[in-house]
Amino acid sequence: MGSQIEITETRFSGVFTDSNRLFTKNMVPRSRVYGEKLYSQGDEEYREWIPRRSKLAAYIKLGGSYFPFSSDTRVLYLGAASGTTASHLSDIVTSGIVHCVEISPRSFRDLVALCGKRGNMVPILADAAKPEDYRPMVENIETVYQDVAQKNQVSILVKNMSTFGAESGMIAIKARSEDVTKAPERVFSEAESSLKKQGFKVVDVIPLEPFEKDHAMIAVKRK
Ligand SMILES: C[S@@+](CC[C@H](N)C(=O)[O-])C[C@H]1O[C@@H](n2cnc3c(N)ncnc32)[C@H](O)[C@@H]1O
Repeated sequence: MGSQIEITETRFSGVFTDSNRLFTKNMVPRSRVYGEKLYSQGDEEYREWIPRRSKLAAYIKLGGSYFPFSSDTRVLYLGAASGTTASHLSDIVTSGIVHCVEISPRSFRDLVALCGKRGNMVPILADAAKPEDYRPMVENIETVYQDVAQKNQVSILVKNMSTFGAESGMIAIKARSEDVTKAPERVFSEAESSLKKQGFKVVDVIPLEPFEKDHAMIAVKRK
């Protein structure tokens, strides 16, 4: 067990704070995912959720207001890498599921090991731009979370939300992956307009500086 700490739940279900740092309740006690610190309060163990390592934590720290995750949410996570952020979502959606799509075989190896320890995480080696390839493995998705750092980020999100009938989505847009020559603010506003044109309600847009340069989190709901 880590050192004792006094923390309370934030307005977001399953996200805790000591009024400075963020934490989630560790589903696999005494186990770290990316070198984060562990703390305990009473019999419960918590993992620090570090905004410089996770864009979803950065979004919360920067005042993000939309959080479509609770204990039973079924999530499709695109661009899971080795599972840093996905592991915190796994701590949050304790009776839900996190389907983790990753294209890089190197990251996927670590992801498979992590999913082996966490009963609500499922690894999928696939290209997020081709949801038809993993459609047979994934069902009843409520929220799509995307962080793929490649081109055509909006169209990948829209395609996945449509394929799986998801009601909400969050996308960590990396401006430089879309167009290195465009100002990031312009990339973010074009992404927002494109999502609106395709029938989504944009509920939040938060640039992620100082935690992540040239990134913004955009949250959408189906209208
Ligand atoms: C910035 S990293 C993700 C970090 C991770 N979301 C986190 O917070 O822990 C982006 C990941 O997206 C993956 N990726 C890029 N294009 C992809 C695609 N088309 N389908 C699936 N994964 C993709 C990359 O291999 C990389 O692991």
